[in-house]
Amino acid sequence: MNDRFPPPARFAQRARVNADTAEALGLHGLHDDIRRLAYWSEAADALVWRTRWHTLVDWQPPRSKWFVGGTLNATETCLDQHLHTWRRNKAALIWEGEPMQGGRPQDTRTLTYQQLFDEVVRFAGVLRSLGVQTGDRVCLYMPLVPEAVIAMLACARLGATHSVVFGGFSAEALRDRIHDAGCKVVVTADGGARKGQVVHLKDTVDAALADPRTGCVQKVVVVRRTGHAVAMTAGRDVWWDDAMAQARPVTEAVAVDAEHPLFILYTSGTTGKPKGVVHSTGGYLTGVARSYRFVFDHKDEDIFWCSADVGWVTGHSYVVYGPLANGATVFLYEGAPVYPAPDRFWDIIERNRISVLYTAPTAIRTFMRLGDHHVRAHDLSSLRLLGSVGEPINPEAWRWYHDVVGGGRCPIVDTWWQTETGSIMASPLPGLTTAKPGSCMHPLPGVDLAVVRPDGHECAPDEQGLLVSRRPWPSMMRTVWGDDERFRQTYWVQLKDPVTGAPWYFTGDGARRDKDGALWVIGRVDDVVNVSGHRLGTAEVESALVLHKAVAEAAVVGRPDDVKGQGIVAFVTLKANQTPTEALKKELMAQVAAEIGSFARPDDVRWANALPKTRSGKIMRRLLRELATKGRVEGDMTSLEDFSAIAALQSED
Ligand code: PRX
Repeated sequence: MNDRFPPPARFAQRARVNADTAEALGLHGLHDDIRRLAYWSEAADALVWRTRWHTLVDWQPPRSKWFVGGTLNATETCLDQHLHTWRRNKAALIWEGEPMQGGRPQDTRTLTYQQLFDEVVRFAGVLRSLGVQTGDRVCLYMPLVPEAVIAMLACARLGATHSVVFGGFSAEALRDRIHDAGCKVVVTADGGARKGQVVHLKDTVDAALADPRTGCVQKVVVVRRTGHAVAMTAGRDVWWDDAMAQARPVTEAVAVDAEHPLFILYTSGTTGKPKGVVHSTGGYLTGVARSYRFVFDHKDEDIFWCSADVGWVTGHSYVVYGPLANGATVFLYEGAPVYPAPDRFWDIIERNRISVLYTAPTAIRTFMRLGDHHVRAHDLSSLRLLGSVGEPINPEAWRWYHDVVGGGRCPIVDTWWQTETGSIMASPLPGLTTAKPGSCMHPLPGVDLAVVRPDGHECAPDEQGLLVSRRPWPSMMRTVWGDDERFRQTYWVQLKDPVTGAPWYFTGDGARRDKDGALWVIGRVDDVVNVSGHRLGTAEVESALVLHKAVAEAAVVGRPDDVKGQGIVAFVTLKANQTPTEALKKELMAQVAAEIGSFARPDDVRWANALPKTRSGKIMRRLLRELATKGRVEGDMTSLEDFSAIAALQSED
């Protein structure tokens, strides 16, 4: 791969970026734009293209097409290209799982690039034999085992779009996602391993498929992981191993258009229904391949461990596509980080000689609480770089990560990005940027982030504002699956260029830049909460609560939590004749866990006689947030409809 930064003139000629394109990007900052585009042109050259693109970007806000005219197959970048080099025999995946009674005898597996390729093309053959064609959607509801990665890449091999649903989601959540994407096949496992318990994935799939809305599903493939008995529906369900034994490998990858949807990934927003974020093939892969290389300072000898599940975007981009595009060795761990012993994480790093660790602040804070001695009991000298993602990292946790885990030697990359951005947008670059604990420092090359006031004017240093992206970038989401208007409304109507009126991408985050220009992301300014790095819409939790027969109304807010970043507090008003009891609180918490997943379970349910509303009937969440955080309400209450609502809530304490 060539990392040189091409001079703009050479780029302009090669990528055929002409004045028209530059103009479409906004007249001011033309030179910056050309440099930004030059950067992406160079980055895209690292991919394997079947047909080279002729136009770098076609930008009609909010619609962008990158690498127009180009065709490719993502697996040729992630797998095939390495087979022609010494990396053919390099470990692509090193997997370790919690040992399971009755499960696979070994709890580690290593797959070289050649072996991973063989498995992927064989499973692509399985999918094809089950009727999967280019453009079809396949749902993956899997534990973190190599088969999850194999299945994702097998979909890509066929040009089928995968929709991975995190294994912690409930049957209801899974059903909605399968239905929304119209998935033809579901790939799952008999179970997953977590804290010595079996997570009954297949049973959950069965429950989801019992609903007629999931009638789109024709086949279910089941991986044997835990070995416990599961019901197999004749004619619909097949075992992974049996199907693989009979499959005809798909050695010829299907070349798709650069804009072809590589995957859909559902994420929470401000309304009840999660959005299917659609990512492209060429642009997405360019973004993750380049950011992986630069942010994690990729070295061929590295063993890279991103502890995220493949069910989240971090797992898509930095367990699968980014590292594999670079021929990296990826370490995968299935199970809880503190099971069977609190030092499990450090034991894994020592035994596997992990060199780059990428994890979430919640995990770091959990380890911090467990005590330094668990870390110090292990030789972590293999580590050379540490990463953080998913939520703001508090300086105390940052310092502990740096001093205790990294032994004061390892730079930390605090990476800010989102499901929608596809790849890392802001981060220190090791060896280039000085880091400040808690700041993601600067936008990456090719990315244009700004902190602005609601009128679009840039904030002064240290003034808090809204985080926007003013220019397109290749791995940006393309649309909301099946709801293009929602895509526009959610991200593109709030903020615009005050000079040209061109719409900007609004991240939903609040941020500030300090006097040195370093970026500090404060957190969401919309009705989204971030619990242990898991993103949840407050409306989603509210919808789950009001499904309970005793509930009249519910309002959900986040409150700061020392370990999880944020916890969930639900304010609930009951229907007439319902009695607020401790048992009912537990029922409501369980209701949320059943509707969404246990990670969404509220930390606290509080009874209210009425919810505070504005004259127009909007729930005043600011007041509820204050109540949840401080136990009382301060500030302006003049637009309150019913003061007694607040009085009732306060007197409860
Ligand atoms: O609020 C920001 C926070 O996580 C949100 C995105 O969540 P999700 O789409 O689930 O993706 C998480 C993994 C990329 C953002 O809007 N966030 C993510 N990374 C950081 C962060 N907040 C502060 N600092 C970060 N490094």
